[in-house]
Amino acid sequence: MTKKPTADRLTATERTAFLSSMRRTAAPTTARAATAPAPVRDVSFETLPAFRMLKTQRAAGDMLGIGNPFYLTHQVRAGARTVIDGRPILNFASYDYLGLNGHPEITAAVAQAAETWGTSVSASRLTAGERPFHGAFEAALAALYQTEDALVFVGGHATNVSVISTLLGPKDLVIHDALAHNSIVVGADLSHANRRIFAHNDLEALEAILESARDKHERCLIVTEGLFSMDGDGPDLARLIEIKSRWGAWLMVDEAHSLGVLGATGRGLWEHQGIDPAGVDIWMGTLSKTLVGCGGYVAGPADLMTLLKFQAAGMVYSVGLPATTALGSLTALRLMLREPERVTKLQANGQRFLETARAAGLDVATSWGYAVTPVIVGDSLRTVVLANRLLARGINAFPIIPPGVPEKSARLRFFISASHSDEDIDTAVAAVSEELNKLIEEGVSVAHYAELMK
Ligand SMILES: Cc1ncc(COP(=O)(O)O)c(C=O)c1O
Repeated sequence: MTKKPTADRLTATERTAFLSSMRRTAAPTTARAATAPAPVRDVSFETLPAFRMLKTQRAAGDMLGIGNPFYLTHQVRAGARTVIDGRPILNFASYDYLGLNGHPEITAAVAQAAETWGTSVSASRLTAGERPFHGAFEAALAALYQTEDALVFVGGHATNVSVISTLLGPKDLVIHDALAHNSIVVGADLSHANRRIFAHNDLEALEAILESARDKHERCLIVTEGLFSMDGDGPDLARLIEIKSRWGAWLMVDEAHSLGVLGATGRGLWEHQGIDPAGVDIWMGTLSKTLVGCGGYVAGPADLMTLLKFQAAGMVYSVGLPATTALGSLTALRLMLREPERVTKLQANGQRFLETARAAGLDVATSWGYAVTPVIVGDSLRTVVLANRLLARGINAFPIIPPGVPEKSARLRFFISASHSDEDIDTAVAAVSEELNKLIEEGVSVAHYAELMK
């Protein structure tokens, strides 16, 4: 029988497991066993290795006095400020980039939508039918990217999975940035296309893959993000369009973190870099960030939307967006366009965070300084302890450790909002700098912990 870890004691095996989990990059989950696996007859979920690992990590966290940063209960709505355990907290872990969550115009639109349409459209739009708000919302999204049409799905993650797996098949090639979101990876794997990865924002590496693999495949899709959620930087769109045109590939850009964030009016990467949006074949985005709802969308040619309406599993076999979400997010979109000063404020806040952090000697890597800026700590344990100490000081920033990010690049990720004040940002940066310096002085690190455990 396996010995269970307790809060104050880890077995040698568990210590090793914990330490290697702190150090390790993503373990390949699809590797095939050389021989047939032995059948497991114990059906309790706690026998699963992933479950055991979670328990070990929690026990180690308890032993080190590190609170659990996951699934914290927030007692107020998501935004730049929150309340946890009755304590007011300055929040840098919310996607409410333009400070629209709970805006009276949006909540009034949602209440009116529920009154008129109820809270469900019952089934997929294919079978239960469309409602006028679907078309109205999709027309507004298409106008944003100057495309013929757009289509909304009930999940942002489901959008990427559905769209990519519908378009590609086993004879095709999907090439994506190394830091692409999990939904892109899952969509590509589900398509059974050959999936290749280029180093983050390295378009020469992308070209090298195209040179070696493009001719061996029928269709090719290149996928990247407008603003990366871990590093806060983005690609050179003009060059990407030139490359995809030369190689006869589709280009898909996930704007989850760039809508409302980049460009003078928040229209995203194309506006930010002054590029004709027609150069991108598939614009994708989510409703959960700037649009303070839940769901995802794609915008592009009408033929693509027709195909997806009849072939994408997330459309055909999944319920349509309810009126409350469609009209809430449509109202948020209209507010974004009507009040560009929100976008300006977010951008000013983002730049302030970046510059103040740099001046304090913090490592902000390649961030452009808009909605997302990481503070690279490197050591996983130090990162988790830092997040904990900041939370104790009333500042919430999420710790990201491998396999979420590459080895030695564990970081605290800061999401910036238009609702943060200059003082919020200065307070947070000063606190990070102080606490990080203390941790360095104390020598808190995985290696140090390993030494103590010997
Ligand atoms: C780049 C990117 N794409 C897609 C998604 C999935 O969106 P959602 O969380 O709305 O399902 C996310 C989620 O954070 C994301 O960061």
